[in-house]
Amino acid sequence: MARTEGDTWDLASSVGATATGVAASRALASKQPNPLINDPFADALVKAVGVDYCNRMADGELEFGDEDPLFNRERICEQIAVRTRFFDDFFAGAVSAGIRQAVILASGLDTRAYRLPWPPDAVVFEIDQPQVIEFKSGVLEGLGAAAAADHRTVAIDLRDDWLTALRDNGFDATRPTAWIAEGLLPYLPPDAQDRLFDNVTTLSAPGSRLATEHMDIQGSPEEWAEKLTERSRRMGSNLDLTQLFYWGERNSAGDYLTSKGWDVTIRPTREAYAANGFELPEHELTALEGDSGYLSATLK
Ligand SMILES: C[S@@+](CC[C@H](N)C(=O)[O-])C[C@H]1O[C@@H](n2cnc3c(N)ncnc32)[C@H](O)[C@@H]1O
Repeated sequence: MARTEGDTWDLASSVGATATGVAASRALASKQPNPLINDPFADALVKAVGVDYCNRMADGELEFGDEDPLFNRERICEQIAVRTRFFDDFFAGAVSAGIRQAVILASGLDTRAYRLPWPPDAVVFEIDQPQVIEFKSGVLEGLGAAAAADHRTVAIDLRDDWLTALRDNGFDATRPTAWIAEGLLPYLPPDAQDRLFDNVTTLSAPGSRLATEHMDIQGSPEEWAEKLTERSRRMGSNLDLTQLFYWGERNSAGDYLTSKGWDVTIRPTREAYAANGFELPEHELTALEGDSGYLSATLK
């Protein structure tokens, strides 16, 4: 179903199901012999949601079609490992630099508040839609998982006034903050993406840091999303990214952040793979993704 203003979801529907899909690949990667990442809660979270495709992904039971150079078990594990390690390393770097306030925007089934070694004086905020926050918190509580830091959830839509909601939950704009927005931007309308970065900038003391993805789609983004959807459909997913993403001209995150006073660094996916000892597969989708990759920024 196409997106509408104010649409809502749980973790089995619409945009929420994409969070379960990503967690399913974290679960899969965490279960391999010599795993590339370790998310000890991903499998239980995915199974609690109970979407058949995601359960089978987590259990390695999908028909991966080993002839596909991008969508096979090994490549899926590498892809999610590169992504997960990038954002894990980003927080580790921020903590080493003395930052003690972190915000996970669009947290979905991200378990970094629970699995990263936060210092005892760190505070970690998570923002996502109410049903997503409530579900994850409930499952993790049932598992007896404990967040390693002062952990505060903010259940609100990122198209609404989340800035006030974050402040009301004790966010301190005078302290530098480490922000991540992983797998979020295409799900926001272009103007909401700009407002998100405006709000992040407003709330960021100098020295704050931000990490997100950098998109550099070659040609038509709709064609790229169609091809991506077609690939996951072949494995049994019923997600239609062409319906879930917002289209139309949007500012490049890097350019927009630069104009707001951030020092931006882009790491293209190919380099991120190489830094992890992997090779980015040649594929029509990786070709369409151009120099997309990972963005990190520091506010001057
Ligand atoms: C692809 S998932 C990524 C989840 C998580 N960051 C990760 O990488 O595992 C997209 C997430 O964005 C959240 N999201 C998208 N649009 C949102 C909005 N307008 N307000 C709040 N959350 C939103 C969804 O609920 C979902 O959890």
